[in-house]
Amino acid sequence: MNESLAPRQHFPLLDEVTYLNAASMGLVPLPVQEQAAAFDRELLLRGTTWFDEEQETFALERPRENAAKLLNVSPDAIAIATSMTEALCQVAWWLRPGRGTNIVSIDLEFPSVVYPWYRVAAETGAEVRLVQVRNDPASLSLEKLAALVDDNTAVICVSHVQFATGFRFALDDLVALAQAHDALLVVDATQSAGMVPIDLNASGVDVLLAGGYKWLGAAFGAAVCYLGPSILERIDPPFVGWRSTIDPYALDVTSMPLAPSARRLEFSTMSYGAGVVLGAAIAYILDFGVKRILAHDMVLATRLMAGLDALGATILTPRDDASRAGIVTARFPGRDGEAVAARLNAAGVIVSPRFGSTRFSTHHFNRAADVDRALATLEQVLAASPVATGASPA
Ligand SMILES: Cc1ncc(COP(=O)(O)O)c(C=O)c1O
Repeated sequence: MNESLAPRQHFPLLDEVTYLNAASMGLVPLPVQEQAAAFDRELLLRGTTWFDEEQETFALERPRENAAKLLNVSPDAIAIATSMTEALCQVAWWLRPGRGTNIVSIDLEFPSVVYPWYRVAAETGAEVRLVQVRNDPASLSLEKLAALVDDNTAVICVSHVQFATGFRFALDDLVALAQAHDALLVVDATQSAGMVPIDLNASGVDVLLAGGYKWLGAAFGAAVCYLGPSILERIDPPFVGWRSTIDPYALDVTSMPLAPSARRLEFSTMSYGAGVVLGAAIAYILDFGVKRILAHDMVLATRLMAGLDALGATILTPRDDASRAGIVTARFPGRDGEAVAARLNAAGVIVSPRFGSTRFSTHHFNRAADVDRALATLEQVLAASPVATGASPA
């Protein structure tokens, strides 16, 4: 574990700082950047003399095919959205759970996992139920989620890996819970795709969404949206446009034959360069294999946890291997974890402040020396006098 899994020279920033922040923004590997830069250069220089229907199709077909490989499903089940939030809004407004039904999530979720349901529920009278763990983030469990689910639950919508604590649900457990109550399961895999193996073939997951710019190492502007068979057959997207149709280049407003695949969720001209980055970034991840990435990242996360324990930290991330991934979140008795994060950032150890805690994340470009440097710096920060909480980078 003295070595990183991905070559360090693909990530020049690592010569300057200790980057333990893939949960906030991953780093885009140089070979991926080069493909994106080549695409953007031609696009910006040559207009339609270069960018034709073939290029436009390629920009989204490659990420679609690679996302399908990553998740072990057919490319027809994958839409390339501009963000996980946009894709979830499409799904939520189509589903529109009605009065008398409920949507179950968690009060410590990333806001975009819950907000679309609030908005829909305000229109329809559905109830949004949240597992209450904000006052005790380490207490999240499948049982607490299950306690809120009943036969009126229309949707369970949670992150596979929680952004604040790194808690990882087993997808099979979530599927079993949803199916036992005839509810749909919508999963945000933004904090797990590219880090935790996900096999959706015959999985029972109804919808899975993932932003590209964290563990997948892509850029802003493109996200993966998987639609399971039962959804794919039925979904009638609330947002449509020229690209939602079987043949976008037909440009015929007298009829609107929606694409028979998940592509019908794609409705407009988008930042195609973001699609190119996503396609190349997923190919980069697939070259290592997600199983190997998980094994690598877990060793580093475990080393980090042991060091945090030795420094007297309170760890909010589960200890059990199956219930965590590459995020380790800690608090420090008598200290504000967000101020600690700010101090670490100032010292070149790049981490995130979250809910009074410090969130570290380990990925394929990290090695044991990064963890050791972070712990040594942390020891110095904790030995120094506390600072008042100030603004700190997210
Ligand atoms: C769990 C989770 N979902 C989604 C996002 C981001 O969503 P979007 O890219 O749509 O802004 C984040 C970002 O931190 C996240 O942690």
